[in-house]
Amino acid sequence: MTDRYAVIGNPIAHSRSPLIHAAFARQTGDDIAYDRILGSREDFAGDVRRFVADGGRGLNVTVPFKEEAFALADERSARAEAAGAVNTLIVLDDRRLRGDNTDGVGLVRDLCCNHRFMLAGARVLLLGAGGAARGVLRPLLGERPAALVIGNRTAAKAVELAATAAGLGPVEGRGLPELAGRRFDLVVNGTAAGLRGELPAIPDDCLADGAWVYDMVYGTEPTAFVRWGLAQGAAKALDGLGMLVEQAAESFYLWRGVHPDTGPVIEALRRGQIP
Ligand code: ATR
Repeated sequence: MTDRYAVIGNPIAHSRSPLIHAAFARQTGDDIAYDRILGSREDFAGDVRRFVADGGRGLNVTVPFKEEAFALADERSARAEAAGAVNTLIVLDDRRLRGDNTDGVGLVRDLCCNHRFMLAGARVLLLGAGGAARGVLRPLLGERPAALVIGNRTAAKAVELAATAAGLGPVEGRGLPELAGRRFDLVVNGTAAGLRGELPAIPDDCLADGAWVYDMVYGTEPTAFVRWGLAQGAAKALDGLGMLVEQAAESFYLWRGVHPDTGPVIEALRRGQIP
């Protein structure tokens, strides 16, 4: 029996998750089907229930349903609780739903394992204070950076988000203009600005010598933020393709108990060799 999985979001047509999971399954020899589901904004819970009733084994959840998936889950992992959002639903044997969040571990693995960035001791600026930033905050702090500053257009939201992780590391929330004069070894873009081709108003000169920048979104062309990083002299400017594949691999592991080799899949996607 082929096990069925899917990614649910709205919009969903652009999602590359089916290609990624199909590549994983070819690699591991797992017999799975993985579809796209256009979720309805009015009845996300109904869409999920139908998928489960049809025998579905697991879902990836993307924008705008991660908070709804969190609320819908019957039980949740610690990292889902910390993120306040669920990007992976696992259908348990009794058909109850377990919610997890693999976004943060995806970012950290791409940075640390694939690119060998040393987060320990680094001064990190995390841009944005919405769901995307919240999802990666604790996994980043877990790598013991020297400082983690959340910089957001709306300062109060940065301060609020930082307060949720107080005591877990050297975290502070700031408005973007307050960053003037500070230097960072890594700047991660977790804002939604890039989705509209915009750039957050980050002060110039905030990159330390040898600093890296990382955009949590990706595109077929370099993103506005990646171009900004390169123009500012970043030693490396990465987009979120590696994070996308790593979060998918962690979901695959949660469902199948086997961790795929992500390197060849990232390479193939980068070269456009996965259809
Ligand atoms: P998500 O769940 O994808 O993170 P969100 O919760 O709407 O989406 O959060 C979007 C984030 O992107 C916020 O931090 C937002 O800043 P505000 O809190 O000030 O709204 C940020 N953002 C969106 N567009 C932006 C822009 N043009 N410049 C700077 N920040 C932007």
